[in-house]
Amino acid sequence: MSMMSIRNSIAILSAAVLMAGCKAGGDNPGREYAPNMYHSVAYEPLSQITDTDAGRWANSLNNDRGEYYNSNGYNPYKMNMREPAPHTVKRNAYGWLPYHGKNVPKDSVPIVTAGLRSPLDSTAEVVAEGKFLFESYCKHCHGAKGEADGKVSEKVAGVANLRGSSYQNITEGHIFHVITYGAGLMGAHGSQVSPEDRWKIAKYVKALQKQK
Ligand code: HEC
Repeated sequence: MSMMSIRNSIAILSAAVLMAGCKAGGDNPGREYAPNMYHSVAYEPLSQITDTDAGRWANSLNNDRGEYYNSNGYNPYKMNMREPAPHTVKRNAYGWLPYHGKNVPKDSVPIVTAGLRSPLDSTAEVVAEGKFLFESYCKHCHGAKGEADGKVSEKVAGVANLRGSSYQNITEGHIFHVITYGAGLMGAHGSQVSPEDRWKIAKYVKALQKQK
């Protein structure tokens, strides 16, 4: 064997040994390059390592724990994430609780919505957004001015004229409720229109009713 090929063999052999050292298997993560790129310092809900010694060899934090430890010692079972207390109710980004009005027959809507007030202020911006939303979700039936002359009303009878005298006094809460659950012949729109958008539309309908 020439000097050259011995040197090559040694190079290949040491490369192979090095590579073998990287091999992961079972609980062994193998050798890792820059381990704190993979094992973030932040608590992770889904990778929970409870052994305080895990990755001690790689510790870069000087916190007297292994680099991989990512549990919360204050929680039972060192869990990172805990379930919310029973019956916790989620609020939306505005801090509003979900609307739990009862889906009642049309005639009872004024009763169940009597105390329901809009959480939005009547600003020009809110009304303008309400107009945009009304034109997306309501105009094809109720018409641009709410006068029951939308395209769909040519085929479907009974669309309410929102500017008619019987609707002049309905409240924003009433309109919010009707968008949420529908009323009589009108279908529910609660799944398509978010609560904040429903309130914006309600503001716009009231503005529309006052227009000459
Ligand atoms: C597919 C057609 C259609 C669409 C879309 C529609 N409506 Fe209606 N709407 C109706 C019909 C039909 C009625 C009459 C229901 C009845 O009296 O049986 C009605 C009734 C109403 C009423 C009166 C309910 C009551 O208390 O008697 C309001 C308020 C109303 N709609 C608001 C809206 C708003 C706001 C939107 C948009 C988010 C909308 N509607 C979208 C068809 C529609």
